[in-house]
Amino acid sequence: MPETHFKITENIRKIKVTMPVTILALESSCDDTSAAVIRDGFVLSSLISGQNVHMAYGGVVPELASRAHQANIVPVVDQALKQAEVTSGDIDAVAFTKGPGLLGSLLVGVSFAKGFALAKKIPLIEVNHLQAHVLSHFILEKDAARPVPGFPFLCLLVSGGHTQIILLKSHLEMETIGNTIDDAAGEAFDKCGKLMGFTYPAGPLIDQFAVRGNKDAFRFAKPSVRGLDFSFSGLKTSFLYFLQEKVKTDSNFIENNKADLCASLQNTIIQILIEKIVKAAEITGISEIGIAGGVSANSGLRRIIVEEGKKRGWKVHIPPVRYTTDNAAMVGITGYYKYLSGDFSDHDSIPQARM
Ligand code: KG4
Ligand code: ZN
Repeated sequence: MPETHFKITENIRKIKVTMPVTILALESSCDDTSAAVIRDGFVLSSLISGQNVHMAYGGVVPELASRAHQANIVPVVDQALKQAEVTSGDIDAVAFTKGPGLLGSLLVGVSFAKGFALAKKIPLIEVNHLQAHVLSHFILEKDAARPVPGFPFLCLLVSGGHTQIILLKSHLEMETIGNTIDDAAGEAFDKCGKLMGFTYPAGPLIDQFAVRGNKDAFRFAKPSVRGLDFSFSGLKTSFLYFLQEKVKTDSNFIENNKADLCASLQNTIIQILIEKIVKAAEITGISEIGIAGGVSANSGLRRIIVEEGKKRGWKVHIPPVRYTTDNAAMVGITGYYKYLSGDFSDHDSIPQARM
């Protein structure tokens, strides 16, 4: 690495924050290529280019994902700048997802961010994908005033790869106080959905079918895990055995009971999640409670956390659906707070599959 690259970063560290601060953000950790422009915490643009190529495989194929990111990233950034009505010269810093995620996918975003930052001589800000999901609660929109969480704040982060309870003392001070010991909640949706013949990702489809089903039609075992941790692999196995048993006597069982199966499965996953966030709120005494991550798009979870909050006197925070699944606006808001605290990255920053 030539010495000059580090010099650029060194000079940038001494940057004085003057308003406005305009951040270009990139998110490419999995199968969505996303770019956003954030100014002083407000979204000017947020674009997501999904990848249908994985549908037929029942899950994300890493090699195909990185190729699609490579094809998508330039047009997506170009559109994000245009929609925000800014030029590359208006950007004060580039924020990118460092991990966790698929290495080949992350590499595309990281490399693009470095190139952009070097060309424009602006700071580079690495962002943890999970922190970004949690900070999606702080994304501001000009036409939609929403109360942002106060601190301390407890956030249930539920996505395709993670299920955690995170305690925030401030925007950048977070502690994980609960974690899954095996599968994530999103994986439970996707893997059980695959058993019912749904394409990937099955979560949104199960949500749609569940609306028309009876949540008490079937019962699936809930795990007993100590403390604030979660487990979902047992549910997946019991769902599989249940279907295998039923299909033995009725080959059309899944087709004829899809809505009830979806409603019962979704209800079990929600109960597992709610029990632990209730416990976390009781232990910590915190009443600012939120949900984040792809599974927080689930209509049942959104409804039940609000109901639970009313019963328990919580202030419940639910991000708009567009900021629940992977998006660059959440990376941008995290980048914004890191910018304000002068937390910049060097150009030898590398993507990390696990963090
Ligand atoms: O946060 P995300 O976009 O990516 C990861 O960081 O993993 O989450 C994707 C996950 C997938 O498992 C998907 O099935 C699930 O979020 N998901 C849903 C819904 N929308 C997305 N799960 C249940 N109900 C939904 N409406
Ligand atoms: Zn995610």
